[in-house]
Amino acid sequence: MRFTVAIDGPAAAGKGTIGHAVAEKFGFAHLDTGLLYRAVGARVLRGERAIEAALALTPDDLATPDVLRTPEVAQAASKVAVIPEVRDALLEFQRAFAHRIGGAVLDGRDIGTVICPRAEVKLYVTASAEVRAKRRMDEFAERGQEADFETVLADVRARDARDADRATAPMMAADDALTLDTSEMTAEAAIAEAIAAVQAKRGA
Ligand code: DC
Repeated sequence: MRFTVAIDGPAAAGKGTIGHAVAEKFGFAHLDTGLLYRAVGARVLRGERAIEAALALTPDDLATPDVLRTPEVAQAASKVAVIPEVRDALLEFQRAFAHRIGGAVLDGRDIGTVICPRAEVKLYVTASAEVRAKRRMDEFAERGQEADFETVLADVRARDARDADRATAPMMAADDALTLDTSEMTAEAAIAEAIAAVQAKRGA
């Protein structure tokens, strides 16, 4: 059985949490596509050229996701994501993942629009920039890292603008996506809506 759930939206809106929960509930595989761009960004921070880095990615690049989840790598990822050749280099891997037997959930920025325009379920998960910055602050606090709210908010806004305004595969909701604004929703409520959307399509 092939069944694809496409989840798009800005950083820290809850895509990962929802994607993980949906995948677990239905036994689907889950791909956080942001990690691919982060892995390219991390290679660029080490001095490589972006397109070559994207073409040279291996599973080892994704083996230690925590080192890819820093603000520096996030900004580098957002910058390399503007380059059409970088996006092209990552496309086939994502499509193959989406079509795997057993079902797949992919979260990112262009999954419902470009990578899987025929996904059975499309969600666009969003929240206000302030709420998302606050969530990032909480994540830093959990890891014992200090952060300044205004700086985190400026980072969130800079990344939103770059991801939404780029010419190739900009971040946006597909016409047939269900939008979930999680600004004032608990994670549980958002997960329940996502699961209901999948169940409605699967007839389960
Ligand atoms: O989801 P994330 O914060 O880990 O993504 C990091 C960056 O990668 C994001 O700012 C833009 C880029 N990205 C993208 O352009 N397309 C995707 N499908 C996923 C991420």
